[in-house]
Amino acid sequence: MFETLKEQPADKILQLMQMYREDPRETKIDLGVGVYKDASGNTPVMRAVKAAEKQLWEVQDSKAYTGLAGDPAFADAMIGLVLGEAVARENIAAAATPGGTGAVRQAFELIKMANPKARVFVSDPTWPNHLSILNYVGIETVTYRYFDGETRGVDFDGMMADLADVTSDDVVLVHGCCHNPTGANLNLTQWQAVIDLLLEKGATPMVDIAYQGFGDGLEEDAQAVRLIASSVPECLIAASCSKNFGVYRERTGLLMAISNDSSRKSLNQQSLNFLNRQNFSFPPDHGARVVTMVLNDPALRADWAAELEEVRTSMLGLREQMAAELQRVSGSDRFGFIAQHRGMFSRLGAAPELVQKLREDHAIYMVGDSRLNIAGLNTQTVPILAEAIVKVGM
Ligand code: LMR
Repeated sequence: MFETLKEQPADKILQLMQMYREDPRETKIDLGVGVYKDASGNTPVMRAVKAAEKQLWEVQDSKAYTGLAGDPAFADAMIGLVLGEAVARENIAAAATPGGTGAVRQAFELIKMANPKARVFVSDPTWPNHLSILNYVGIETVTYRYFDGETRGVDFDGMMADLADVTSDDVVLVHGCCHNPTGANLNLTQWQAVIDLLLEKGATPMVDIAYQGFGDGLEEDAQAVRLIASSVPECLIAASCSKNFGVYRERTGLLMAISNDSSRKSLNQQSLNFLNRQNFSFPPDHGARVVTMVLNDPALRADWAAELEEVRTSMLGLREQMAAELQRVSGSDRFGFIAQHRGMFSRLGAAPELVQKLREDHAIYMVGDSRLNIAGLNTQTVPILAEAIVKVGM
């Protein structure tokens, strides 16, 4: 049977991770996969997470199954974090998933189940795995313009022109904050215009929010998703705890299906539960439980928010240093956008050959579309990167 298996396309981000591991050069710099690293290159367990895990070890007396949608307390805590008071709880069906990717996957399956004709509009570019999973699930994708190669900001006119083609069968996938891979984001006026267009067309938004707290702050980063969820009749939200709680390997995420008609909640919930049961049965619990403890304990929550703020501001500092350093070595302002971008990533907008040159000649690893992970830098490596960028002719 297995002789019929075909080679699957490699995931570019994971492939790069492997290449980096195998590179023996001591000076190598990893700006690839989206994992936060501190100034010493470590991805620490956050203080509040560690404290909650210790408490959990003391008090947990069973590892029996939770529910198909996970522990409802996790959903409540995450809904509070992502949506605040924007949507009445009775309108939200939610299920814990294995990470944000799990939420994305379950959302696509729900879309397919609800409307086999649905197409999903995705930004060009988007996180490559969005396209890969959509393709795997068998959903037609349509791209909308997003990144302006000149300004390295959002091509808002292009985006609106392309979204004018959506129909009431379609879903429009957006990044709630910290767009991956570009780092370029809409402002609230632009979000409102997108919402108005979707309302006019009757299309359904799906928000992927994987970096809340990495951009302009925990509340600020949630403004777009809250505006969307409170304005449209129905939407989907895939939220990840991997980055903002640093629980990458615990696989902690939540999928929300929102209908402003609360009579739909029970069917929405049942469908989410059903999909979990088909795909993996009960979602992982450890990360979700720890996140719940952190969010529900005022002291742990305050410490977590403070540490997340340190992470955010350190990345902003690196962005500013990088923009200033590039201005110095290139003698031009053309890299000023790096300080304007938000989140973990910036897309430099350079040709793949130059990205390859950076890797081969300078042992600097970034994704082939010239996405760099700002958190992979520190104050010492910023000048090295700036020098190399200019040297390879980016
Ligand atoms: C990334 O974009 O690097 C992260 O979301 C990690 C991943 O799974 O690709």
